[in-house]
Amino acid sequence: MAGVLGSLIFWLIISVHVTFLVLAQDGDQFVHYDFRKANLELDGMASTDNGPLHLTNKTEKSTGHAFHKIPMKFTGSSFSFSTEFVFAIFPLQISPPYGQGMAFVVSPTKDLRYSGDPTSYLGLFNRTNDNKSDNHILAVELDTNDSPEAADKSNNHVGIDINSIVSVEYANASYFDGTVRLNKNLLLASRKSIMIWIDYDGIHKLLNVTLAPVPKKHVSPLFSSSFKPSVPLLSRSINLSEIFMETMFVGFSGSTGAVKSDQYILGWSFKIGGIADSLDISQISDPPRPDKKFPLGVVLGVTISTVGFLMILGGIVYLYKKKKYAEVLEQWEKEYNPQRYSFRSLYKATKGFRENHLLGAGGFGKVYKGILPSGTQIAVKRVYHDAEQGMKQYVAEIASMGRLRHKNLVQLLGYCRRKGELLLVYEYMPNGSLDDYLFNRNKLKDLTWSQRLNIIKGVASALLYLHEDWEQVVLHRDVKASNILLDADLNGKLGDFGLARFHDRGASLEATRVVGTIGYMAPELTAMGVTTTWTDVYAFGAFILEVVCGRRPVDPDAPREQVILVKWVASCGRRDALTDTVDSKLRDYEAGEAKVLLKLGMLCSQSNPENRPSMRQILQYLEGSVSVPGISFDSAGLGIPNISHETVTQQTAISSSANFSFEDVTILFDGR
Ligand SMILES: *[C@@H]1O[C@H](CO)[C@@H](O)[C@H](O)[C@H]1NC(C)=O
Ligand SMILES: *[C@@H]1O[C@H](CO)[C@@H](O)[C@H](O)[C@H]1NC(C)=O
Ligand SMILES: *[C@@H]1O[C@H](CO)[C@@H](O)[C@H](O)[C@H]1NC(C)=O
Ligand SMILES: *[C@@H]1O[C@H](CO)[C@@H](O)[C@H](O)[C@H]1NC(C)=O
Ligand SMILES: *[C@@H]1O[C@H](CO)[C@@H](O)[C@H](O)[C@H]1NC(C)=O
Ligand SMILES: *[C@@H]1O[C@H](CO)[C@@H](O)[C@H](O)[C@H]1NC(C)=O
Repeated sequence: MAGVLGSLIFWLIISVHVTFLVLAQDGDQFVHYDFRKANLELDGMASTDNGPLHLTNKTEKSTGHAFHKIPMKFTGSSFSFSTEFVFAIFPLQISPPYGQGMAFVVSPTKDLRYSGDPTSYLGLFNRTNDNKSDNHILAVELDTNDSPEAADKSNNHVGIDINSIVSVEYANASYFDGTVRLNKNLLLASRKSIMIWIDYDGIHKLLNVTLAPVPKKHVSPLFSSSFKPSVPLLSRSINLSEIFMETMFVGFSGSTGAVKSDQYILGWSFKIGGIADSLDISQISDPPRPDKKFPLGVVLGVTISTVGFLMILGGIVYLYKKKKYAEVLEQWEKEYNPQRYSFRSLYKATKGFRENHLLGAGGFGKVYKGILPSGTQIAVKRVYHDAEQGMKQYVAEIASMGRLRHKNLVQLLGYCRRKGELLLVYEYMPNGSLDDYLFNRNKLKDLTWSQRLNIIKGVASALLYLHEDWEQVVLHRDVKASNILLDADLNGKLGDFGLARFHDRGASLEATRVVGTIGYMAPELTAMGVTTTWTDVYAFGAFILEVVCGRRPVDPDAPREQVILVKWVASCGRRDALTDTVDSKLRDYEAGEAKVLLKLGMLCSQSNPENRPSMRQILQYLEGSVSVPGISFDSAGLGIPNISHETVTQQTAISSSANFSFEDVTILFDGR
């Protein structure tokens, strides 16, 4: 459950994030990673030359301000807002004095040049206006100096300031580490990136301030929400309606005194009326390294002796890691960055693809369970391939499949590419695949009738989405019970879409190659290699029969007349004894519903594609809004799987060359 939820939340965040970019001009919310494009009003020391907001530099007794140019509307008496940003403070040395400090500000004016003094006033107030209610200023200060004017008691604290530099509430900088359930100290002026969340709930009139160190740089998206501590540093009840005007500006203020520091904002998200969009750590730039002044002689002496040794050691480690984690990354792939995982992160998530992380080995490769540093559970499928050709287009398809969203589709989260190998990252499905249940492989509990019905409906709605409701027609090409995965509540989700296509493309030079699984492949597919939505429908029909009858479409161990399921169902249909085929493991099932499903399965198994229903019709039949038309059980009209020896050997040959195993075929011929 946690895995599914985790990935759900993960994608929710992504989609929110995407929508957000579109809404960015709306003015009541924004996300900035590159402040040059942020439409800010800068003054004093503030600049955005390299992307990050550089709020203060080492000019003495000076201020820097940066305000979002577009004013924000805080209307009504119960407005809420939320913001989060990443900052880094570079003092001259990592021991006090650290310089002055900086603050997030909400102010009725974006011009604090004359009213905001430097040094201990942080560019916010001055001696005469301090503690005056007509300032209408809220600030959350990140104070790195213990100034007497501000009655500070520490040189490393976070405070809430209302109209005055004397904080109404403050605390030494620290954060709650949920893994050890302890508060840990944090040095604001540590030159490291620190995240801060400021959330105001206008209903409960509560202002929370939360801090946390930013985890190491990630290649793939890592959203700030995944490491936000559950306990805020400051939680103060304030009625901001009494402080704010209706129109206010949001921004930052920083100052230097005789002691000074470089202060940077590296990413900033803001929103009125809800939780600000999570920042993606992988998009946050590193703070530029300000030039340091070292006592040259000393440094050189120490350096030269150690560097030689370290270089050799480092070289060995580097070469080892480089080979171990090597991946293929081409120029054209840059645009898929958000969906690309580093091999290193997947290697770590699966503990080096250890055997005890193996979930299964299917037709296309091995699947491993993994846990990302954020706690998200994933399934990583390693697909071996030797075709570099067609890769670009295939990766483009993966990227677009990553955008497919349906509750009955296993979410594809991203991919990674190495030489001869492709890794696909999916949401983790705790209950494994449907065939394990149907064929009771792991002594699992049998699925009830209503669970089976629910799974069939779920898969049908996923296929309808792929065929008709998405922006492009997507063919699944390999619908079968072993490709249906079950979530924590035993809902069916269609997985592995697109993989068949991949193998297809890898083999595009050999025109005769056909991909699919015997028993699920429509006659026109086996004969001519044609794939359409109708071939998916045929496979879906075989799948319905499989779920209702609790057996595979082709079962060599069955009595002779029952080996081919469609044929057997048809013969029972002719005798008006359809329900004889229903899975004997089913204690109580609804005979009427079972008949409808069996008929529907047969309707999908028609040999003429045009006689098969569309997914939309199928859903109507399943929902009972339209009744299934009467059909003849004459085998002549049915697409009966052709399992002559010739076809099968041909398929087996293909399977070995394409690294693709036809499980059903192997079963059929090993025993005979
Ligand atoms: C600090 O920034 C201001 C404004 O960008 C600039 O004029 C000044 O030269 C900078 N000073 C230092 C010491 O970098
Ligand atoms: C302090 O700020 C006010 C505006 O709030 C301004 O009128 C005043 O001149 C400032 N005083 C000093 C001493 O800078
Ligand atoms: C700020 O002003 C209020 C009255 O408006 C007063 O009670 C309080 O003591 C003042 N705080 C400081 C630090 O001067
Ligand atoms: C905050 O830190 C200062 C040292 O900078 C220390 O003297 C003080 O006791 C700390 N306060 C709390 C509440 O921990
Ligand atoms: C503020 O923190 C408290 C816990 O101290 C929490 O119950 C509340 O939901 C938080 N509010 C917001 C807006 O984050
Ligand atoms: C908050 O302040 C506003 C404006 O002064 C007032 O209308 C409202 O009643 C206050 N709300 C609470 C809960 O005190």
